[in-house]
Amino acid sequence: MEELATAQEHTAWVEVNRDTLAHNLAQVRAHVGPDVRLLAVVKADAYGHGAVEASRIFVDAGADFLGVTRIEEALELRHAGIEAPILVFGAAIPDQARAVVAHQLSQTVCTLESARALSEAARAAGTTARVHVKVDSGMGRIGIRCAELVEFVRALHALPNLEVQGIYTHFATALERELTFVRKQLSLFLRAVAEVEKAGLGRPLIHAANSAAILRLEASHLDMVRPGTILYGQYPSAHVPRILELRPAWQLKSRVAFVKQVQRGQSIGYGRDFLAPREMTVATIPLGYADGLTLTPVRTSRSLSELARTAREFARRGRMGVRVHGQHAPFVGRVAMQMCCIDVSHIPNVEVGDEVLLRARFTLTNPRIPRIYC
Ligand SMILES: Cc1ncc(COP(=O)(O)O)c(C=O)c1O
Repeated sequence: MEELATAQEHTAWVEVNRDTLAHNLAQVRAHVGPDVRLLAVVKADAYGHGAVEASRIFVDAGADFLGVTRIEEALELRHAGIEAPILVFGAAIPDQARAVVAHQLSQTVCTLESARALSEAARAAGTTARVHVKVDSGMGRIGIRCAELVEFVRALHALPNLEVQGIYTHFATALERELTFVRKQLSLFLRAVAEVEKAGLGRPLIHAANSAAILRLEASHLDMVRPGTILYGQYPSAHVPRILELRPAWQLKSRVAFVKQVQRGQSIGYGRDFLAPREMTVATIPLGYADGLTLTPVRTSRSLSELARTAREFARRGRMGVRVHGQHAPFVGRVAMQMCCIDVSHIPNVEVGDEVLLRARFTLTNPRIPRIYC
């Protein structure tokens, strides 16, 4: 099958700006200073930006480590020839030990069983397995308890061909209004790490901060920071101060597939939820919920009790709407699996083939939509 070579030929595409990703990383680097290592989080296909390309950009821009959740994500980067250190955040499954070692990944561990499997795989391969111990200081997902850290690290030191490269934790509430729990997690974590050092078990890389903590709590920077969201140009929440000059690097684009005049009272889309309140010009866009445009249907007539929900949904639709010729065009009717309709009555001369810009969540946007780097 002949390839589609240019954006003009695609039905839909995501434009990712390379320089902008590098710029965001430089902003984080300037904020944390040259002595703190920087792990660029590229899990979930680099938050929808394309893991391989984003990783190359971040490594070239000075990232010391890359971070992913699953071994498959790490292998994709290795197969693309990326040699930078990669930390796998997910808890190791013993069966994955051979691949972790073969691809020189740094692996999160929180059970002795997985550490033993890594040690054995490394011994068999004549190499060393690198691990980062995950401490559960309050997130409650994976990790060993603070009180167990010293004994756990001692047990790891007794295993051959295994290097404890890092000890880390993850904050549960760094993007919420209150920082009290973050401070508590940090203090529990640091006390546990100090005990490890006191026990003569060394001082590996200590790290904790995600995007929100990087911007809100300098004391959490430690030896390495782990930014994700801010590298992609977004602030994690309204409580995080806007102190960096972040730029979004990502734009979902498509083209108008069809334009029609609709009479007052005519319905649009599945369920006939939308009835045109007047004569309208409606454009069809070849993208839908399978591509990440997840919108709840909004009916035009509904009971009083549903008004608040309707208002919220309209506000959400407003935020998620489409831009045509630089103007906002609201969705009309249900978003279907691979098509949706927009009201362009107020935008003159909309034609088939016109470029449209859509707002959608990076990570929910269909990975099969090509990412085009510019
Ligand atoms: C262990 C770990 N560190 C860092 C991050 C980056 O988080 P954020 O996108 O909030 O910067 C994540 C993502 O959730 C993570 O799982």
